Amino acid sequence: MPGWLSPALLVLWAPLGFRATCYYYRKAYYRSFFADPVACAVGEARPQAYCGEVKFPFILQNLHRYFLYAALIFLVFLWADVVRAFVIHGSLALAGGSLAILASTTTLTLYTFSCHSLRHLVGGKLDCFSCIASGGPRYRAWSWVTFLNEHHMGWAWASLFAVCFADLYVRLCSMGVIHDPVFATFVHLFDVPDKGFTP
Ligand code: FES
Repeated sequence: MPGWLSPALLVLWAPLGFRATCYYYRKAYYRSFFADPVACAVGEARPQAYCGEVKFPFILQNLHRYFLYAALIFLVFLWADVVRAFVIHGSLALAGGSLAILASTTTLTLYTFSCHSLRHLVGGKLDCFSCIASGGPRYRAWSWVTFLNEHHMGWAWASLFAVCFADLYVRLCSMGVIHDPVFATFVHLFDVPDKGFTP
């Protein structure tokens, strides 16, 4: 891969596809950019019959549930990063970067777990919880996802801003433009080998 190209581009398809096919964002950009429809109970701007998402490229919106599976896997790596963000020079510590990464991963988790596809998957597609095995746990999972789902739009925006902020913050720190303040150091965990490098 050329040096000027970020390796992050190799994984960008998953978060980008997840957001682009998200039901909330679809509603927003269909209304704002395509005026199709402009709003609920408002007629079509163009004299044409609505044909749904059955043709290319919009048929690709049906991939949303698969992007959800990818997003759930990515969350595991993001939470591993959160743990690493709290280990600074071999000690458990709290820094500006730790908080930025914690905020972005927390809001991303809430955005992912409030997904309409996940709600359908855990119980929304069922007509009767008491008629199936493990109906109780499925009902509780569905209730939790439903609770989060009511605020899906909020999680969508909060996570978008939190991720952008965390990415910018980490980038500026890595370039030496800003210095990451360490607020508190708690426990020493391990010694970091001295590589003879003084920042
Ligand atoms: S509906 Fe928005 S992330 Fe699935």
